[in-house]
Amino acid sequence: MTEKSPSERPGPFAALEGLAYGGDYNPEQWPQEVRLEDLGLMREAGVTFLSVGIFSWALLEPTEGEYDFGWLDEVLDNLAAQGIKVALATATAAPPAWLTHKHPEILPVTAEGTTLGPGSRRHYSPSSAVYRRYSAGITRTLALRYRNHPALAMWHVDNELGCHVAQFHGPEDAQAFRDWLEQRYGSIAALNASWGTAFWSQNYSSFNEVLPPGIAPSTLNPGQQLDFQRFNSWALIEYYRNLRAILREITPNIPATTNLMVSSATKDMDYFDWAKDLDVIANDHYLVAADPERHIELAFSADLTRGVAGGAPWILMEHSTSAVNWQPHNRAKAPGEMLRNSLSHLARGADAIMFFQWRQSFAGSEKFHSAMVPHAGRDSKVWREVVELGEILKKLAPVRGSRVTSRAALVFDYEAWWASEIDSKPSQAVRYLDLLRAFHREFFLRGISVDLVHPSADLDAYDLVLVCTLYTVTNEAAASIGAAAHRGASVLVTYFSGIVDQQDHVRLGGYPGAFRELLGIRVEEFHPLLAEQVTAISDGSTGTVWSEHVHLNGAEAIATFTEYPLVGVPSLTRKSAGSGSAWYLATFPDPESLGDLLETLLAEAGISAEASADTGVELSRRNAPDGSSFLFAINHSDADATVGATGTELITGQVFTGTVPAGKVAVIQES
Ligand code: GLA
Repeated sequence: MTEKSPSERPGPFAALEGLAYGGDYNPEQWPQEVRLEDLGLMREAGVTFLSVGIFSWALLEPTEGEYDFGWLDEVLDNLAAQGIKVALATATAAPPAWLTHKHPEILPVTAEGTTLGPGSRRHYSPSSAVYRRYSAGITRTLALRYRNHPALAMWHVDNELGCHVAQFHGPEDAQAFRDWLEQRYGSIAALNASWGTAFWSQNYSSFNEVLPPGIAPSTLNPGQQLDFQRFNSWALIEYYRNLRAILREITPNIPATTNLMVSSATKDMDYFDWAKDLDVIANDHYLVAADPERHIELAFSADLTRGVAGGAPWILMEHSTSAVNWQPHNRAKAPGEMLRNSLSHLARGADAIMFFQWRQSFAGSEKFHSAMVPHAGRDSKVWREVVELGEILKKLAPVRGSRVTSRAALVFDYEAWWASEIDSKPSQAVRYLDLLRAFHREFFLRGISVDLVHPSADLDAYDLVLVCTLYTVTNEAAASIGAAAHRGASVLVTYFSGIVDQQDHVRLGGYPGAFRELLGIRVEEFHPLLAEQVTAISDGSTGTVWSEHVHLNGAEAIATFTEYPLVGVPSLTRKSAGSGSAWYLATFPDPESLGDLLETLLAEAGISAEASADTGVELSRRNAPDGSSFLFAINHSDADATVGATGTELITGQVFTGTVPAGKVAVIQES
């Protein structure tokens, strides 16, 4: 069969009805009577979509070339009989014991040279030729067997690629790295130039001499480190592409995806790059129990997932009904919290809500991880909320396909994250996400939607563009950010942006080289602040983390540092640029002042909240192509809250009264 072009293929949600609901289903852990009981429980919960077979290779192929598909046939037939659709996994996320015994060379190797053994999961290198061959084999076998199965709606390739191990240092990885470098640079001279190997006698005379960054006496070449990060992200998605090609060949109409781990904790994979190869974005998200603002981190991750999806609806492939088992202290969710979490993902663009996992395991490492069917059984908070969520999602079916539209953008770049946090920088206190998340939080608190977009994204739709700590930037992206200001947007650039090009070479002549002209400033020298140091600003605010010697060159100073040695030096500047403006921020303001700054920028850009609402209410709006809109109001507080919206509240089916009870959610189809 020849591969169909994207426009000929049905949309990724085509086989699913309404807002899909379900989770990872691991029936291989259970006897048949439990699997049959599952079917009734799934009906009760309103389950419509399950990821099946993620860790089942050793049971599907117990010895090499000997298959046992009986149990999976039965499971899929039974699910199909009650209309449940399946994202069938390639089963490749945990190689079976017979394979690692026969081919220990597939195992991953760390920077220290330690081989990571079997007995857990994800114990393979994506560049292992042997593993590629075997994983292609089981994928092909599964695809051929189930290609026409009525339950099959999607392929779930592997699982959380890059989880546990994201950097690979074995001999085959080293060779793959060299091949990748040769492809990228063409000649060793070009690599030497790019990595600046004249420094510390690091010059290479051939690609054969190049190694992955290992353990060395001092800091490693930053170009080598950055390229190794790029290479590993590429190697993982390349592994996916190999399996996807087999699936496309056998089932050209079945969409394929893999579950990402987009969150403030996952740095290793460039998901904007990966998105090009996924038919639909699927994400796994887990709350960090120790974070008192975990619901805001959730919103950040969901907004970033939407950004990775290019604004299109996405799948929440995993989250938890209650506690996880892998944090130091695994907190059970409060009553109603799981529903709020689920609807917050939905509010921010998800069209499917799923969990890890359907039934809580009684054995294995994850037996204390919550699930849809808990150890306690049906008489439990978790089960009651699982059933309630199933009912709610049915009522919210009209939301499907609608999209969040934002007038503000936060530029987000994995490359800038990687490059800015490689060692030997002016300050280790500059962490890529800190300012981004601080601004995102202020948007969240104000009920204003913001998109997290790649630097290469089309910025035309935005009236406010924030560029935080974008240490590395291409000329094209810098030009596009400048063009947004000239077209009329308010653009804010913060410190440590536009410092280097894609090769991590400093743009000379004064910082920030990529944005000097746009901003009308020139930074002569960095003055990073010491830990705990707070610097005073002329407007009464304070700054931490950073200060620097800014000179005006066309911009006006809005505020200045007031402490030696930067007394009178601008800390915040503004310049008119075309029909818009270009602002520059040279420190990390205290939270209140950061909020005030955002207020100023929002006012200039003419952006206001999605609706009026009491404190503690999260707001997000989804707009449908037919002009209808859905306002999500999620009350995280323990007091009833007022929200200024009119229309039908879809969960109750009643006219919206204007009040969202404490801890509850209203979804208002607006009139
Ligand atoms: C990840 C994995 C799942 C499970 C959960 C537990 O998301 O994909 O298999 O281990 O974590 O939180």
